[in-house]
Amino acid sequence: MLGNTFGRIFRITTCGESYGKGKGSALAVIVDGVPPGLKLTRDVIQNELDKRKPGHGKLNSPRKETDQCEIFAGIGQDGVTTGAPVGIIIYNVDTQKVHIEQYRAYRDIFRPGHAAYPFFLKYGEAQDWCGAGRASGRETVGRVAGGAVAKFILQREKIEIIGYTKECMGIKAKDMTWAEIKKNYRKNEINCPDLEAARKMEKKVLEIKDEGDTAGGIVELIVHNVPPGLGEPVFDKLNAVIAHAICSIGAIKGIEFGAGFRVGNMKGSENNDQPYMTKDGKVRFRTNNAGGVLGGFSNGEDIVVRIAVKPTPTISIEQTSINMKKMKEEKLKPITRRDPTLVARIYAVAEAMMAAAVLDSLYMARAYDSLARLDKKWLNLK
Ligand SMILES: Cc1cc2nc3c(=O)[nH]c(=O)nc-3n(C[C@H](O)[C@H](O)[C@H](O)COP(=O)(O)O)c2cc1C
Repeated sequence: MLGNTFGRIFRITTCGESYGKGKGSALAVIVDGVPPGLKLTRDVIQNELDKRKPGHGKLNSPRKETDQCEIFAGIGQDGVTTGAPVGIIIYNVDTQKVHIEQYRAYRDIFRPGHAAYPFFLKYGEAQDWCGAGRASGRETVGRVAGGAVAKFILQREKIEIIGYTKECMGIKAKDMTWAEIKKNYRKNEINCPDLEAARKMEKKVLEIKDEGDTAGGIVELIVHNVPPGLGEPVFDKLNAVIAHAICSIGAIKGIEFGAGFRVGNMKGSENNDQPYMTKDGKVRFRTNNAGGVLGGFSNGEDIVVRIAVKPTPTISIEQTSINMKKMKEEKLKPITRRDPTLVARIYAVAEAMMAAAVLDSLYMARAYDSLARLDKKWLNLK
């Protein structure tokens, strides 16, 4: 299996699966590019993991994973990072026999919406049939732990990231300012800062859950206080790097920046963000249809991204599929644990991958700028 690392200078490498064999079954992340001297504590990582963890509330999977992490590398005797790779491990604690047997019962049948069909093609019978292996939502635990380190470093630069549910099954959150969104962040299970819309969304998801079905949604991500000039102008455009990071998360089916797909129905005069000079001599834009990225670089406005999250593939409704061993169609009625919607948890993963992408781009920009020696006139605009 290839491609278990993301990033160029700030790099995260993950391993582990949902139901690895044996008592020590775990997920882990190695984080490269952490500066020395940081007071990176276990709590910093745990706070982010707690946003993603299942087993609480009506809107997420009843799987009781406590997701407790340990930092096993990269912190010295003085309790600060040494500059060496940081290693974080999270053990699986709820891998019950009854669920393993359920997975065993349909190990040869691929479940619609799950990754099993391409896994059969790539890895044959050796593929991890229990809990979807590396395609499991549980794989994202390592990303959240790695992203927590990125967020911690970004905080020192005063860069903040928030993800929240913007839309769910036809119910839309109203447009809100950064301050309003921040005030009501994580105030409800569906993590929608428009409290009225949140109530309607949660009611709708629970109705769908009662039908044995699952619900999709849209998460908006905002990166606040981004300096202008992150990104490269050709293949490594900031929007391309962010799209790579976000679209590597399972169940993400679409991404748009700023006005996004609305640009198809806009005139140039409506879409162009007009710049102005601030009193302290900085360049800003009157609107943010670009979503904070212009020509592949951050332009100093908030980065605004919306991502489409598909409904959870596991449903309690009979479906038809194929038994890959018999090469025959079969009926399938999965009964494993599942999230009625993924939006209530996936925002934590999206925030983490956004943090990794933005921090890596910040490192790249600083590396280049340190050699480019631009005229002070331009540098002062930042
Ligand atoms: C945080 C997270 C949790 C997930 N939980 C589940 C789940 O409980 N049940 C399920 O069927 N799929 C779940 N998924 C979705 C599958 O991993 C994903 O849809 C599947 O691997 C197919 O990949 P694709 O949707 O990207 O094509 C989860 C995904 C994420 C990111």
